[in-house]
Amino acid sequence: MLLRGAGVLTEAARGRTAVAGFTAYNLETVQAIRAAAEATGAPVILQAGASGFRHGGWALAHLALAAAADSSARIGVHLDHSRDLEEIRACLDLGYTSVMVDGSHLPFRENVELTREAAELAHAAGAWVEGELGALAGDEDRSTDARSGAFTDPREAARFVEETGVDALAVAVGNVHGFTSTPVRLDFDRLAEIHASCPVPLVLHGASGLPPADREAALDRGVAKVNVNTELRQAFLAAVEEALPDDGHDLAGVLAAGRRAVERVAHRTALELAPTSPAPSSSLK
Ligand code: 13P
Repeated sequence: MLLRGAGVLTEAARGRTAVAGFTAYNLETVQAIRAAAEATGAPVILQAGASGFRHGGWALAHLALAAAADSSARIGVHLDHSRDLEEIRACLDLGYTSVMVDGSHLPFRENVELTREAAELAHAAGAWVEGELGALAGDEDRSTDARSGAFTDPREAARFVEETGVDALAVAVGNVHGFTSTPVRLDFDRLAEIHASCPVPLVLHGASGLPPADREAALDRGVAKVNVNTELRQAFLAAVEEALPDDGHDLAGVLAAGRRAVERVAHRTALELAPTSPAPSSSLK
């Protein structure tokens, strides 16, 4: 079923757990994320677009919404990293349950303006909205060995939330998109300061490759949504590569291998973030 409302994030924050935000690009990744949600009982946020639209077009949006709506699991359908109010409006019209407006490339005041407009659109549609303050480095769809971008200023964060009306705030505390050749070091003191001053749940982007202890420490400091993409992509690609030599031109078989690999990672991650979810019922362990 479609998971509506930001209550899932505030509840997660209260319990020092988090909801996974998993990125989907195609049929198989949508299926895998949905299967992981069903098997674990954990609510998940299926992130379909914005950059994924370059590959999947609007069909990706329809696919994600249909898969979430007729699932027994609680699945939010989310627009990730959109800078475009028309795109946000279109996704809300289709029924997305949340959107992320990314004004992190803009000066503070312009980021506030863009984010406030997006929040008004989202709330009018019954959806919740995530904004970003500070700038997350790296590419959303490829690993580029990025180094951390502009960190979120804890003094600005509370003002940003108040002036925009966002329901969740994505922070930059050393996190980057994609895998890196040297370990990412999160600034936990800064994260704690942001948490202390901000009335909304925080979102940790770029969680691929972070050790479980770092993810846990983030959950202790107000993070209630954790975005994972690269680990899913890596699993899909590795499984497809392995399946290729024996494929006998079996396209469905090769893609199914990728799907199973993504489901395994999503399954494990969802349970790591929300360990109190009901015990897994699938054969995946
Ligand atoms: P990773 O690809 O580093 O997991 O980041 C995902 C993300 O933040 C999506 O918004």
